[in-house]
Formats: sequence, structure tokens, C-alpha cells
Amino acid sequence: MSSTRAWLTSLLAPVDDGLTRMREILGRQIEEPSAAVSDMTSHVERFRGKQLRGALVLLCGEATGNTTDEHAAVAAIVEMIHLATLVHDDILDGAEVRRRVACVNQRWDNQTAVLLGDFLYARAFALSTELSSRLCSRILSETTRRLCVGEIEQANRRYDFDMTQDEAEAICGAKTASLYAAACELGARYPGGNEEVGRQMYDLGWQLGLAFQIADDCLDLTGTTEEVGKSVGTDVEDGKITLPVLVAYQRASDDVRARMRDIFTAPDLEDRARLLVEQGHLGAGLEVARLRARTLVAQASERIANLPESPARRSLEGIAEFVLERSF
Ligand code: FPP
Ligand code: MG
Repeated sequence: MSSTRAWLTSLLAPVDDGLTRMREILGRQIEEPSAAVSDMTSHVERFRGKQLRGALVLLCGEATGNTTDEHAAVAAIVEMIHLATLVHDDILDGAEVRRRVACVNQRWDNQTAVLLGDFLYARAFALSTELSSRLCSRILSETTRRLCVGEIEQANRRYDFDMTQDEAEAICGAKTASLYAAACELGARYPGGNEEVGRQMYDLGWQLGLAFQIADDCLDLTGTTEEVGKSVGTDVEDGKITLPVLVAYQRASDDVRARMRDIFTAPDLEDRARLLVEQGHLGAGLEVARLRARTLVAQASERIANLPESPARRSLEGIAEFVLERSF
């Protein structure tokens, strides 16, 4: 196990039991008699990854003194929705590797992957109807609406170098921060609870999720598949103008701007992200984006510091740091 992975495992220790229950519930929920489907769901379980969002439901519950018997199920629902979005995202991105194993669209094909994503999404909402409160399905249906809007906006703004930084950040927020925010709010509030605490924890999740996505966008440019465990460079291949690229472009001379646009659009170029990095076009963009992620994490850390001292609070502090330091 790498030292970063071991660090994350130690951070999740206060909610080990809840995570075990969450995994059991998730495993049961996606069982299916069809051999074809169970082959795929076993594959997807192999790429379960960090399960940070599910862990945040549990940690935020613990850190705010709001743990119920249903928190593990809420965490499983959040993770199933996350898995569904990743299966669909990999189709959209034409990705090949996720969490060191072949993406569903690669191991099978796009058609089957669309359907598996739908299956996971349906199973998530089926479980939410069995809970004693509607809060989980209410918050998560609104969250998936935002996720889809974020992805549609992102697709519409491909190759759009005239986007503002706020617009780029709004896309990151909708597609990624919204689910982090929902996970933290549900942890702190489910089954109904204190709305004000829920709002505070929502903001905390939003800041962590936004920082996570910005760090992810930097890794997509500078990381390797071996290191990160998933296909990298896909943002540039797909024409997605992420924050580091946008900032670099905004600060570049006309000549460099033209070269950057060429790297994005010229036909038959190999490894466009590497070209951007190697030709030195990204320097300031990467720095500014990483600084933005650090600022968001600092704001999240201030919120965490307002929680009562507990092992779960210490884990949240560590996770905030992990979001910046991770290489996977
Ligand atoms: C990862 O972005 C993508 C997301 C966090 C959200 C994807 C959401 C959808 C495709 C909508 C799916 C909707 C339903 C209802 C299932 P990324 O490509 O920047 O990150 P990556 O490097 O992990 O692929
Ligand atoms: Mg992707």
C-alpha cells in the first residue's frame, strides 16, 4: 500500500464500522440474478476507489453528533450515485482506465456502460425509498440534477477559451462539489435535523469538493495513468478548458494563445496535455489553480475547526489536507 493510501486508511479509522456496513449494503443492493449484470457489478466493485463521499457522510455524522442507524445506507446511496456518474463520465470522456482497472466502456462497450450507469442510479434511488426520511432522496435528486446540468454546461463550453474563471468554477462546482456538499449535509442532518448545521456542513463539502476537482484537473495535465490510476490528459483531448488551462491562456501572449489553441484543435496530435506542459504553456495556470484549491481547503479547515473536538473532526482535518496532497 502506498504511503498516501495508508494515510487515507488511517484517516477513515473512526468510521471503519460504518464503512464496512456501507460496503455490505452497497454489495447487496447491486446484486442481480443476471450473470451479465453481476459480471459488470463485480467489476465496478473492484474500482470502488477511495469512497471519500460515503466516508464524508459518516464522518460528518460523527463530527456533528448526528449518527443514526441509517447513515451507512445513506453513505451507500451516495457512493452508488457516484459510481453511476463515473461509469457515465468515462463514456463521455472516452476514458480507458479508472482506479487501475479497465473502464466499463472499455471492458464492455458504450451501450452496456450507459445501461450499467442507469442500473446503479436506479438501485441508489430504490434504496432511498426504503429509508424512514425523504431527506436523502430529496437532496440527492436535486444533486443529480445539478450534476447533469454541470456536465451539459461543460460539454457546451468545450474549446471555449473565452469562458470566465467563475464560469469554469461553476462547472466544477456543479459536477463535483455538489455531491461532496450533499454528502456532508446529509451526514450532519439526516433524517431531518438542524438546518443551520446542515448548511454549514454543505458549505464545507462544497469547498472540499471544489478543491478536489481543481486538484484533479491539475493531475489530469501533469499526472501519469500509473500514478493517478485513471486515464489522464482526457480534458485536453475532449476540449475541456479547465481552470489551470484557462488561467494560463488568459495570461498568455497572443502567440502562446494561438499555440495553445492549436494544441487543443489540430487533428491527429498525440498526447496534447503533455505538449501543453512540455512547451511551458501552463506554468502560471497550474500555480494559480493550486493556490485556489489551497485557499478553498483553508476555508474548509476553518469550518472544521468550529466543530467540537473529536476523532471524526481530526479525520476531516486530515481529509482536507489529503484533497491537496493526493496523487490518485
Ligand atoms: C468527473 O469529472 C465527473 C463527474 C464528477 C460527474 C459526472 C456526471 C455525469 C456524467 C452525469 C451522470 C448522471 C447520472 C444520473 C448517473 P472528470 O472527468 O473531470 O473526472 P475524472 O478524471 O475522474 O474522470
Ligand atoms: Mg472523466
